Amino acid sequence: MLRELIVKTRTCRRFIQEEKVPAATLKELVDLARLSASSGNLQPLRYILSNSPENNQKIFPNLAWAGYLKEWPGPAEGERPPAYIIILSDRTVSKKIDCDHGIAAQSIMLGAREAGFAACTISAIRREELRETLSISDQFDILLVIAIGKCGEKIKLEEVKENGSIEYWRENDRHHVPKRALDDIIINVF
Ligand SMILES: Cc1cc2nc3c(=O)[nH]c(=O)nc-3n(C[C@H](O)[C@H](O)[C@H](O)COP(=O)(O)O)c2cc1C
Repeated sequence: MLRELIVKTRTCRRFIQEEKVPAATLKELVDLARLSASSGNLQPLRYILSNSPENNQKIFPNLAWAGYLKEWPGPAEGERPPAYIIILSDRTVSKKIDCDHGIAAQSIMLGAREAGFAACTISAIRREELRETLSISDQFDILLVIAIGKCGEKIKLEEVKENGSIEYWRENDRHHVPKRALDDIIINVF
């Protein structure tokens, strides 16, 4: 069921680093993104895949994790993502990207979950540093990084409480994610 898959597709930030993600799985995930909707059907997105410790080490320092968990510096050695998909756009195809990368990211997140993995979409990226480290040409804009691996943490969906805070939190090592109530997000204009 789609609902069940979406409910299970939670953002994971602590992984089992030693459990590799096969290159073939990463390619299958990009194939899901390839088949997804694209504004004007321009298909401007391009992808960089990484699943080796050497390459992952070049990506990890350029990512920022969990802005609301102020005390947490991000995943420690041993719980870092074993794989990444970097989503780029090709400026020679289109200079303005609609929301193709969000759709692609969700296809990848859902596909990863279905394949038994978990993921985190990351937009807080030190883009110029990452570009330099990976020698990414100016032809491409760096849009998102998706970290992927076996999930090493427990995550629970919550309702937004009376104080209205949408900040996720950790309690007893479990990650809690508040979601707004359905009635609070539908605007009745009729
Ligand atoms: C476009 C986008 C950008 C995001 N960027 C980051 C990020 O830079 N760092 C991070 O730790 N999480 C990032 N996230 C994950 C969100 O924090 C996460 O989706 C949110 O806390 C809700 O949790 P859920 O995905 O389990 O519903 C991003 C998510 C999206 C959709």
